Amino acid sequence: MTVRDALSARAPAGLRDRRGRMLHDLRISVMDRCNFRCPYCMPRETFHETYRFLASRERLAFEEIVRLARLLVHLGVRKLRLTGGEPLLRPNLTDLIGDLTGIPGIEDVALTTNGTLLAKYACELHAAGLKRVTVSLDSLDPQVFLRMSGGFGGLEETLNGIEQARRAGLGPIKINAVVQRGVNDHTVLELLERFRGTGVIVRFIEYMDVGNRNHWQRDAVVPSRELLARIGARWPLEPRQPAYRGEVAERYVFTDGGGEIGFISSVTQPFCGDCTRARLSSDGVLYTCLFATHGTPLRDRLRSGASDDELLDALRGVWRERTDNYSEQRQGPLADENAHKVEMFYIGG
Ligand code: GTP
Ligand code: 5AD
Ligand code: SF4
Ligand code: SF4
Repeated sequence: MTVRDALSARAPAGLRDRRGRMLHDLRISVMDRCNFRCPYCMPRETFHETYRFLASRERLAFEEIVRLARLLVHLGVRKLRLTGGEPLLRPNLTDLIGDLTGIPGIEDVALTTNGTLLAKYACELHAAGLKRVTVSLDSLDPQVFLRMSGGFGGLEETLNGIEQARRAGLGPIKINAVVQRGVNDHTVLELLERFRGTGVIVRFIEYMDVGNRNHWQRDAVVPSRELLARIGARWPLEPRQPAYRGEVAERYVFTDGGGEIGFISSVTQPFCGDCTRARLSSDGVLYTCLFATHGTPLRDRLRSGASDDELLDALRGVWRERTDNYSEQRQGPLADENAHKVEMFYIGG
């Protein structure tokens, strides 16, 4: 029995999906737009000037998001993460954070950002009740950074955002680095060197086949095991237990006291068995997997007077029927290689 299995076996009774998994995390995408065009997420050839993003009225209003969050807390959600696109592009986001952190039962509210607007908003976010931020930063090499952001933003801006977040108390700060072979895998040690000993936790994410537009190729995935061996040869590492049940990242610490790092290995070591995450798109579609081919639209029900009980019934039904385990299925031949999957920028990672 793995550590994850043992922890899930101890889970209390409650709402379960078809594979026995509880609902614990809600990831809320508040904005489908982004000021980057990372090729692994929003390649420029698709997401150009005339791409049709959602209109403001198509996005859920803050009251609608808060209402759904409250209902989902009723069904077990304890942890919220705000995502995008780029969530800090959503006007008045701090108002939403204030409302969400005030929901009884919520234990953790975090935000995933590319960091460009973090210096501007860090203090405001903290004052509104946000606990911590995770910043996407793929490389410290300015040229590699720009290649991976699609030519937008800048390394110094993101680093300054991280520094201002640290000063504002938005910790522990985590950094997400997507690793692509031949693109940034040669800059991994440099990234660690910079943040070792600072308390910032760097996590390496295996490049994933999210959506249908990022030209994913298995060859470009750098398996976490390979990275672990390279990093461990430079700075000895030892594994740590998951910080909480169902943690996505596998944790390691530097044995010399340099701090913690993580590996998110959805491609080579799927973690669907303990996946307790639901995702809400900015236009109010509920998805039960990052690789989902369909979701449950809730916006029109919200806007046409559905009662809390009606919505709760619908939400409960969605979770009870859930069977998702895409990353496990990807280990073998997929039933439909060309299935139309939801896109990362829209569902928020
Ligand atoms: P912590 O609460 O800090 O542990 O955050 P987290 O690791 O749950 O969230 P974060 O947004 O930092 O997740 C990091 C990345 O892991 C995401 O951006 C995704 O790329 C990937 N990820 C998160 N959840 C899932 C999941 O359920 N399935 C898959 N395949 N990947 C996931
Ligand atoms: N594979 C792995 N991670 C990805 N992200 C975006 N697209 C991909 C992908 N194809 C990550 C981003 C960010 C988070 C929201 O998801 O780097 O950290
Ligand atoms: Fe924007 Fe994040 Fe997607 Fe990059 S990975 S395009 S920063 S949403
Ligand atoms: Fe959860 Fe789907 Fe990711 Fe598996 S692939 S861990 S079911 S989101």
